[in-house]
Amino acid sequence: MTAFSLSLKRLFFQAQNDILTLMEERIITPQATNEEAVFEANLRPQTLAEYIGQAKVKEPLAIFMQAAQKRQEALDHLLLYGPPGLGKTTLAYLIAKEMGVGLKITSGPAIERAGDLAAILTNLNPGDVLFIDEIHRLPKVIEEVLYPAMEEHALDIVIGKGPAARTLRLELPKITIIGATTRYYMLSAPLRDRFGTTFRLDYYTAPEIAQIIKRSAGILGIEIASEAAQALAERSRLTPRIANRLLKRVRDYVQVKGDGVINQDLTHQALKMFQVDDLGLDEIDRRILEVIIEKFKGGPVGLNSIGAAVSEEEGTIEEIYEPYLMQLGLLTRTPRGRMVTENAYRHLGLKVPGELQKNLI
Ligand code: ADE
Repeated sequence: MTAFSLSLKRLFFQAQNDILTLMEERIITPQATNEEAVFEANLRPQTLAEYIGQAKVKEPLAIFMQAAQKRQEALDHLLLYGPPGLGKTTLAYLIAKEMGVGLKITSGPAIERAGDLAAILTNLNPGDVLFIDEIHRLPKVIEEVLYPAMEEHALDIVIGKGPAARTLRLELPKITIIGATTRYYMLSAPLRDRFGTTFRLDYYTAPEIAQIIKRSAGILGIEIASEAAQALAERSRLTPRIANRLLKRVRDYVQVKGDGVINQDLTHQALKMFQVDDLGLDEIDRRILEVIIEKFKGGPVGLNSIGAAVSEEEGTIEEIYEPYLMQLGLLTRTPRGRMVTENAYRHLGLKVPGELQKNLI
């Protein structure tokens, strides 16, 4: 085979893989794709006043920020946790902007060596915010570099090896670390303790999501009827990232099939085409519930068995699918495993088994 035909073959396989990846992309995954990062940046609220929902976080945060500004100090370190897509990164942008300081964004898995973190820390200005996404994935040795940086504004550098090794302490500017995680329980206790404040982000309410959709439509210059915004909100898994994604897809649909205005009818048609049901569940969510019902008599069943039956990783089920199914009251966690609820049978149009009904009385 010539070099030319080999590279053609490689190109063909690459294209095939890209198409497969596109097909596998879920419209309702709460994780951001690369292309989406730009789209999200345009829709991101710039001030706390523009930020809709999360009142339990927003109100104390406004006080902390004002107090730190009055004292002309860096804001206390903050830990944000909760399911993906709820606005942890957005909050970090907004805090830096409102405090008038710089923002550096990194993530746990991106920091591989102590030197990577040292380089970041020594390049920050006083008061700056360092946002560490997926902080639960920070290697243990790096965590230990972070502790003195958080507590004493210092960086301890070890020079040399063996008996001649010495530690050199570098002073750092006072900065704010904002850690974000979807898995709070995976954070080590010493790391957790070093955050002055911890905020849990919760799913939004449907009216809040409808408000976010209307705001985004305004920024994108699209007209949307209130009922259509409401319909999208109800199917967005109460997650702004998914709501904005649905809005974008429905906009495309309406531009082709309608006159560009998003009304209720066209929204329902588009959602049907995307196979997003009335509760915002897609095929994989439904398959998880169906598998528990059909193969495991409704549960209890372990996460590993569910994962094997639906060909998804346990971690993905636990982090991406399960929280929303639990939020909707379709699935429960018991010490012996996962169980579907009576509502899951109803949602799938199945008869609720007699014994389940008896247990519920
Ligand atoms: N876009 C994404 N999240 C948002 C929020 N919480 N408020 C306003 N706009 C948003």
